[in-house]
Amino acid sequence: MKFFVDTANLDQIREAQNLGVLDGVTTNPSLMAKEGIKGKEAILKHYVDICNIVDGDVSAEVLSTEYEGMIKEGLELAALHPQIVVKVPATKDGIKAIKYLTEKNIKTNCTLVFSAGQALLAAKAGATYVSPFVGRLDDNATDGIALIEQIVDMFNYYDFETQVLAASIRHTMHIIQCVEAGADVATCPLSAIEGLLRHPLTDIGLAQFVKDSQKMN
Ligand code: E4P
Repeated sequence: MKFFVDTANLDQIREAQNLGVLDGVTTNPSLMAKEGIKGKEAILKHYVDICNIVDGDVSAEVLSTEYEGMIKEGLELAALHPQIVVKVPATKDGIKAIKYLTEKNIKTNCTLVFSAGQALLAAKAGATYVSPFVGRLDDNATDGIALIEQIVDMFNYYDFETQVLAASIRHTMHIIQCVEAGADVATCPLSAIEGLLRHPLTDIGLAQFVKDSQKMN
């Protein structure tokens, strides 16, 4: 399973990249705003900066909500860097934009996916990734991981090439559940990835080994 880090923070992206297991980055307008990125020039520069840090795909979201604006922005974003994946919402205009961009050989990530039907239409339009939002479904008393399982099964059954990118991952256990569900990618906060390493028996064992190694001097 691939790991993307879900942030627009350059320090965190560098830290994830330095860990050596990072496959890409996802951003969204909320994450960009959190970093204080304002204005078109600064937004585009920030995406290029991210691409220059990581080796893999970098999702950059369109801000328009209607078709013409989405494709104009999508073409502009895709021209920035070969690693850019144009992120488009799962709406009627979004599906049309995904179809258009796919025909231009531009990678897309269909975002804000909350149902199997939305994922199906995105895959039929040729999306590179679909992003079901696990945490936000859980927040609304709906099983987010069950949706990942449903979409993985559907894509396997029909041989869709679209990858299931589990998004809105909130904690380490979500990552393990996404692995079990067969997600292709999980986009996570860095803390959730680092949580995979956390185990008290590792800490206790290492402390003992360090102590005993002093007897070998
Ligand atoms: C996905 O690409 C989104 O950026 C993200 O995962 C949303 O997560 P949140 O629900 O924690 O905001």
